[in-house]
Amino acid sequence: MSLRSFLEEDHAGTLEKVNEFQNLLVNLQYEGKAWRGSNLKQIGGLLRFFKKEVGRHMRIEEEVEFPFLKTHLPRLECLIEFLSAEHREFRRNLRALEFLWAQLARNSRASSHPKWMERFTGRAGYVANLLKGHLQEESKILYRVADRLLRNEEKRALMKKIRRWAK
Ligand SMILES: [Fe+2]
Ligand SMILES: [Fe+2]
Repeated sequence: MSLRSFLEEDHAGTLEKVNEFQNLLVNLQYEGKAWRGSNLKQIGGLLRFFKKEVGRHMRIEEEVEFPFLKTHLPRLECLIEFLSAEHREFRRNLRALEFLWAQLARNSRASSHPKWMERFTGRAGYVANLLKGHLQEESKILYRVADRLLRNEEKRALMKKIRRWAK
């Protein structure tokens, strides 16, 4: 297996979930009250996936991959800083989204205001686009460059570290 396909193993599944998330946001806005509960519930499931699974993927990158790549390919440092900032931006917005979602899910008074739904779908759309763009930058630039420039023994060492972390 190439280093690139190894590193992006989680990306395909995450991209599918983001697409599902975007479809549900459209449904939430246009299917009306009768489906609201069911749409919100499914969206809640995806928010948990983003927090847990995507959160884990990002931690492996921050704790193992990014430091390794910075050391072995210093020219990637700027790109890695940018990608790390996107991780922080993702987490910050996801937390805000969880709060907005929780109010909608329990039908709180504040969330009955139409502006609340607007805030939720606006931010949710932003998070979806942020994540999609991020995965693309990593797959198309970072992982590809790493695959091309690292020596074989470095690739093996990196994959070993990641497997060890993931256990
Ligand atoms: Fe990332
Ligand atoms: Fe990634």
